[in-house]
Amino acid sequence: MTFQGRNFNVIQDFTQAELNYLIDFAIHLKQLKQKRIPHHYLEGQTIALLFDKTSTRTRSAFTVAAQDLGAHAEFMGAGDVQFGKKESDKDSAIVFGSMFDGIQLRVSKQETVDTFCEYAGVPIWNGMTNDWHPTQMLADFMTIKEVYGSLAEQSLVYLGDGRNNVAHSLMIMGAIMGVSVTIASPEALAPASEVLAEAQVLAQATGAKIRHLENPLEAVADASVLYTDVWVSMGEEAQFQERIQQLMPYQVNQELVQHCQKPYIFLHCLPAFHDSSTQIGAEIKHKYGLEAMEVMDDVFESPEAYQFQQAENRLHTIKAVMAVTNGNLFIPDLA
Ligand code: CP
Ligand code: NVA
Repeated sequence: MTFQGRNFNVIQDFTQAELNYLIDFAIHLKQLKQKRIPHHYLEGQTIALLFDKTSTRTRSAFTVAAQDLGAHAEFMGAGDVQFGKKESDKDSAIVFGSMFDGIQLRVSKQETVDTFCEYAGVPIWNGMTNDWHPTQMLADFMTIKEVYGSLAEQSLVYLGDGRNNVAHSLMIMGAIMGVSVTIASPEALAPASEVLAEAQVLAQATGAKIRHLENPLEAVADASVLYTDVWVSMGEEAQFQERIQQLMPYQVNQELVQHCQKPYIFLHCLPAFHDSSTQIGAEIKHKYGLEAMEVMDDVFESPEAYQFQQAENRLHTIKAVMAVTNGNLFIPDLA
């Protein structure tokens, strides 16, 4: 297994063994952090964090992970740099790559990350695009492993917008890891056919069942993991009304979970619209009379909910990715 110098762009670039290694290494790094044992694998490095979308978890995880690894992280948001406005992706990639030791991008276009992978000459870490959210997958599957002890026999059911970056990434990750993934959504928000086909081909090697179902009650029947994401992703804010109409039957609430026939855990990549305490939540309540969208507090605050453990695991998994792709390193033998 060789990670040194590689990009972390899309999940499809990695084997099951490599993804398992990253999850186990993240569990190891979590223990080091808890015991306050130093792990400065990126001593003296400087990494760039480029964002054209907002973030709490991803930005925090990269920043704290860099610090824990002995590196300095420099955040550059939309409006801070020429990139994305005055300077092409290729020129920006060459310049950033000539100064920084590694680069995280959270940008709308997947092509931008692909261009950086081609021209920067240093490891590129994909912190989310409109198409994919690969680092999120490591935290999600690490959390499932922590809770259940193993990924074997797990059945993940995602309810909501089946065409977004998280839904698509879950299908590919599940297929590679041998975890069955059901996407429950209306036909209009079904996964892109090419992603479903790609996931089903990958799943042939692992036996995972990757499918789309319209009926949410049928979908959750054999779930061991219930997963949802916002109904309106960043950049789609004009679509609140339409999405609410389409996705209300897919809301995760106590009524829905009555149809689960096995014990389940609840996951959410966050941020979540589970109450009206936020500015957007208050607007939604005022406009549509809704207290919550994709998940109700009766599930979000229940003992089955692990979304905050999942959020913390963004730190440990992102740290694992940074350390193995750019560390002054060896890959530690975890056996
Ligand atoms: N889950 C996630 O990516 O969160 P942020 O948008 O806060 O980074
Ligand atoms: N699908 C969401 C994920 C946020 C972490 C978005 O793209 O906004």
